[in-house]
Amino acid sequence: MTWFVDKREKAPSIGDTSKLLFCLKLISFQSPLLHFWAKYVLKVVLRWCFSGAFSTPRIIMQWNQLWFVLGIGQPLSLLLKLNPAVTKLNLYDIVHTPGVAADLSHCETRAATKGFVGEDQLKESLVGADIVVIPAGVPRKPGMTRDDLFNTNASIVANLAKAAAEVAPKALLGIISNPVNSTVPIATEIYKKAGVYDPKRIFGVTTLDVVRSNTFLAEAKGLDPQDFNCPVVGGHAGITILPLISQCTPQVDLSPEKLKAMTERIQEAGTEVVKAKAGAGSATLSMAYAAARFTGSLIKAINGEQGVVECAYVASSITESPYFASPILLGKDGLEKNLGVGQMSSFEEELLKAALPELIKTIKKGEEFVAKNY
Ligand SMILES: NC(=O)c1ccc[n+]([C@@H]2O[C@H](COP(=O)([O-])OP(=O)(O)OC[C@H]3O[C@@H](n4cnc5c(N)ncnc54)[C@H](O)[C@@H]3O)[C@@H](O)[C@H]2O)c1
Repeated sequence: MTWFVDKREKAPSIGDTSKLLFCLKLISFQSPLLHFWAKYVLKVVLRWCFSGAFSTPRIIMQWNQLWFVLGIGQPLSLLLKLNPAVTKLNLYDIVHTPGVAADLSHCETRAATKGFVGEDQLKESLVGADIVVIPAGVPRKPGMTRDDLFNTNASIVANLAKAAAEVAPKALLGIISNPVNSTVPIATEIYKKAGVYDPKRIFGVTTLDVVRSNTFLAEAKGLDPQDFNCPVVGGHAGITILPLISQCTPQVDLSPEKLKAMTERIQEAGTEVVKAKAGAGSATLSMAYAAARFTGSLIKAINGEQGVVECAYVASSITESPYFASPILLGKDGLEKNLGVGQMSSFEEELLKAALPELIKTIKKGEEFVAKNY
């Protein structure tokens, strides 16, 4: 899609959408087999499709807007607005927030909701925040890894973290934007540069890995996922996602084949959604649910509730990786105690060995990005 925007600056009119779709189908169908004649035929078809097709701009903007509408931010803000412990909810984005906030503000719950839009309003949006959650940036499309998002999302997270470090340095910071394995080190380096770094306050939100594990395992055992708990440690991408099925409560016994298949399904669950959405983004509703659960736990801990535990990706010394997701006890100031990985099975230890080099590589990438650019 971007190709058309870049080349022509204007997008095709709505009336030409069917031609455009036909053409895109043709390209994707033919691309692996393109030879000289196929290319010639394609050129002719393309010319036919787009003759006079660039009269009405903005259909591509509307496609983009659809992504925004379907993203994590909106369902997350609704779930947070429904949380009776939330008193104030500021929404920041480069588009749409005033409308979303006006809409949300009519829900009969006490959180005062306000939208802030554009960089000029970024700092104002952060004033007085106790918790800052960042789901900004581009999601995956089929065939992409989370690391493929690095080039776009690294600077988005760095700039938002810079503003948060300046205006709300004591706020607890939850980072959803991928690749989480790198964006958490990026935010950390930005906070260090600003002289306000506190490792207890920065979290990569990996709750969705736990939510998925609970759901899949409970389904396999015919149990209610709400009664299930499966810790997931490591990172938040492919083989760095390590579900500790041996430590599930209630206990589950799976054959070695089933255990391997279940582990791989959990590691690739995000890709399952990306494929099913077929180019329209990645997990948004389950992610919003997971982020609302994590944020709810932070709020409970800030409000003094004892024994609040969540898995999250944090600065860590429990393995040789400087960041690592594990169960953590939350308190008023964020991370109170890292509960570590407990007794792992030999299968899980092998997974850990495979994960660490990948994790360390992506962490370095994030750190180097800040060293070079900020
Ligand atoms: N941690 C996880 O488990 C997990 C799960 C799913 C998705 N994600 C990640 O979350 C991110 C968002 O996904 P999505 O589906 O909501 O994407 P989306 O494209 O639907 O929404 C992203 C939003 O970010 C906004 N944005 C872009 N640049 C910005 C900036 N500079 N400042 C503020 N806002 C900006 C966009 O306007 C858009 O509204 C992606 O990076 C995705 O990979 C993480």
